Formats: sequence, C-alpha cells, structure tokens
Amino acid sequence: MANSVGATERKRVLSGIQPTHDSFHLGNYLGALKQWVELQESHDAFYCVVDLHALTVEPDPAALRKRTLASIAQLIAIGIDPAKSTLFIQSHVPAHNQLAWVMECLTGFGEAGRMTQFKDKSQKNGADRTVVGLFTYPILQAADILLYQADQVPVGEDQRQHIELTRDLGQRFNSKYGQTFTIPEGYILKAGAKINDLQEPTAKMSKSSASQSGVIELMDTPEANRKKFKSAMTDTEREVKFDEKNKAGISNLLTIYTAITGSTISAAETEFEGKGYGDFKSAVAEVVVDFLTPIRNKALELLEDPAHLTKILSEGAEKANAVASKTLAETYEALGLIPRS
Ligand code: TRP
Repeated sequence: MANSVGATERKRVLSGIQPTHDSFHLGNYLGALKQWVELQESHDAFYCVVDLHALTVEPDPAALRKRTLASIAQLIAIGIDPAKSTLFIQSHVPAHNQLAWVMECLTGFGEAGRMTQFKDKSQKNGADRTVVGLFTYPILQAADILLYQADQVPVGEDQRQHIELTRDLGQRFNSKYGQTFTIPEGYILKAGAKINDLQEPTAKMSKSSASQSGVIELMDTPEANRKKFKSAMTDTEREVKFDEKNKAGISNLLTIYTAITGSTISAAETEFEGKGYGDFKSAVAEVVVDFLTPIRNKALELLEDPAHLTKILSEGAEKANAVASKTLAETYEALGLIPRS
C-alpha cells in the first residue's frame, strides 16, 4: 500500500505550470494535472506555479497577479492538498534564480539554441522581439527541478527536451564539481488522456488556439461549457463510434466522456447506440459540468478568502525554501564560492 511507505522512502516528484491564463482547461486537467493529484498519494510532491517563467510572455501585472492566485486556487480545487504536497509560487523561492545563473554558466550557447520550443517561438516572433528570457527559459526550468533533488518530473511530451537538458546539466555539474544533484527522470504523462479542441478536433486543446469556443475551461460557467459542447464539431454520419481518423470530433467526445466517467470506449459506444449526436453531446456536457461545477465553486470560494490562500502559500514557500536553500548552499560550496559567515 502506498500509504504505508514512510515519507523518507517516497520518491520525489516536482512539476510546474505557468499562470498564463485565467483558467486551466480540461486538456490541462485530464492530460497532466489529474496525475499530479494522484502522485501526491505515493510520492513526496512539489508543485509550483512558475510565475517567473510567465514573465517571458510580458503579461499585464494585474493579470499576472490574478492568474497566479487563480492557478493556486484551481490546483487546490482539483485536489492538490497542501497538507500532502508542497504547493508554492516559484518567485517565493529566490534560489530558483540563483541556481539558474549557475546553470547558465554550464550551458552551451548552441545547446540552448537547439531547444525546439525556443526555436519555434523565436522564429515566429523574430529575433528583435524575442527576449533573452525565452532563450534561458529551459535553464530556469532545470534549476526548478534540480533544486529539489527531484527523482521524477511529470510533464507532457512537449517538455521531453527540457527534461533532457536538465539531466545533462545535472550530470555535467556532478562530474565537474562532485555529486550534488539527483538526476531526474522524465515521467512523460502517457496515461493521461489527450484531449482535442472541440471545434478543431484534430488539434490539441490549447489556450493558444484561434477560437476559445473549442476549449473547456475549469472556471467557465456551466452554461458556457454546455454551449461549447452543443456546438462541438462532429461529422455527417450518425453513429457514436471511436474512429479518430474519420470521426475526430466524436472520438474526442468519447475520450472526454470516458476520462471523466471512468467507463471504457466500447461501453460508451454501446450506451449511445441508436442515439443521435445531439443526445450524446448533451450527455458528455452533463458529466463534464457535474464534474467541473464543484471544482469551480471551490476555486471561487478560495479566491474569496485571500488570507487563507496567503497562509497556504507562505507554508508552501517555507517548505520549498528549506529544501532549495540547502541544495543551493551545497552547490555554492562545490563551486568554491565563499559562504557568508
Ligand atoms: N515549461 C513547463 C511547461 O510549459 C513549465 C515548467 C516550468 C515546468 N518549470 C518546470 C515543468 C519544472 C516541470 C518542472 O509546461
């Protein structure tokens, strides 16, 4: 039983999410955040809202403030329990920036330039509109991970290269300056369901998609989400059958339905045999709305009590700082930096 494992024997996981939007969406939840909640039962979990990473997209200060708190509230609302996990805001732990500098001094210019996310984003915007922070983004991410001596990093497939860089930097440091960092494994979330956009069912559900009408938000009203399901893109046939190639919309709705209800695709196909797409869409909408409503209410309730949130955040920061400052002190010592007495 996972619970009988003592805290010291538990593997440590760390993950982070950017506070770049007012709400997480169903794809974030089913693809990754749901596993964060599960992992806290069997692992020593550290989860951070990476507000410093969000500075690379130049957010409005009021929006950043609001989104950071909304992110924390939503993480608690989906089940991240501050008594089980260390939940904190990245900028509350100065060691992230301090270790990032050390890691920048170990990273090759070409090596950083080969990061595909950086290449994609900088190509899209042009060199003059690309900030240096976007270039060093993966190095700050490596610091986030290495500081906590994380064994595993639960992330989506798109983060694989950043985890490889983290491992390379950790190993490079260890072999130059002596064993200091745990080399983390990527824990690429395959178990999670891959949810697509309701309007464009061949593309991943994403906040950067052209229209928000295919994105189911955790913080949307039930009415708004029902409307999105109602207008979800389907096909001209009438059979509720899983066929990603020819019936991307229906298949995506089936994936959502089974991910929420825990049922299987074939059971769901049988359940909706002979029923029209309209009935099927309403049924999917209802299970999603029933699932999301308490989450939304809980998050709104938390946001109405800033003193309570502040307390959770300061306890999280305290626990995170204790681990991070120890690793940073060992790192400085290994590098030959003189400790301040
Ligand atoms: N780059 C990650 C993403 O976009 C977010 C992130 C920042 C992260 N620091 C991290 C993820 C540390 C895991 C561990 O999803």
